[in-house]
Amino acid sequence: SARRPLIAGNWKMNAGGQEAMPLAAAVARAAKEFSKVEVVVAPPYTALAAAAHELFGENKSDVGLAAQNMHPETSGAFTGEISAGMLKESGASLVILGHSERRQLFGETDELVARKVGSAIAAELRPIVCVGETLEEREAGKTLEVVERQVRAFLDELAKQPGFGVIAYEPVWAIGTGRVASPEDAQKVHANIRGLLASASIELASVTRILYGGSVKADNAEGLLSQPDIDGALVGGASLDAAGFRKIIEAAH
Ligand code: G3H
Repeated sequence: SARRPLIAGNWKMNAGGQEAMPLAAAVARAAKEFSKVEVVVAPPYTALAAAAHELFGENKSDVGLAAQNMHPETSGAFTGEISAGMLKESGASLVILGHSERRQLFGETDELVARKVGSAIAAELRPIVCVGETLEEREAGKTLEVVERQVRAFLDELAKQPGFGVIAYEPVWAIGTGRVASPEDAQKVHANIRGLLASASIELASVTRILYGGSVKADNAEGLLSQPDIDGALVGGASLDAAGFRKIIEAAH
């Protein structure tokens, strides 16, 4: 497709200290080797500044720096929270929103995720918005219904600036389990999401990157990435290993 492939590494609550610097530096090197691919890393908040130094200092890479969450308000009495503006000041230009771990463990609703998407876009922070069904929902045959509900919640926000935001389809049962969706099953959901985007605008559908996430590894990346509506990957565990992450970037090239 004409869409530039995007490989994003979500470090989750890992590599927040000294480990962040060599890992970010290795990703910067890999991104230079495979310049056709847009590469993004999402370290924990406390490592954003250090990662920014590695990515944008002497190395001068064009790796995108993402946070893993944010609060929808710009400032105020929200102890322990971080705003879009603060993330930008730390060097981030993207933010992962509505990850299933946020939805499941921290009670984030479709409405809250949509508010966050709106705030991120207003602050010129590119959202990577996550959707995906649980195992129970899949087994009940509700995959498309659940994903549709989740996408519709933030569709209007995304449609304000076609191509600025990214969607990640992450079936919850595939996250951190080693149980990856088959390329065909993932493609079906991706095509459905693109159809929803088209209901807002044809342009939105054609320019929005839809990433797959859930147990992506060097050895299964190629099959997934060869599907017409899979434009990249959101990688968790395998993004903590520089050599393995490089191979996933290579598979997208
Ligand atoms: O954001 C990343 C996903 O949750 C995937 O995690 O690659 O460890 O399965 P995983």
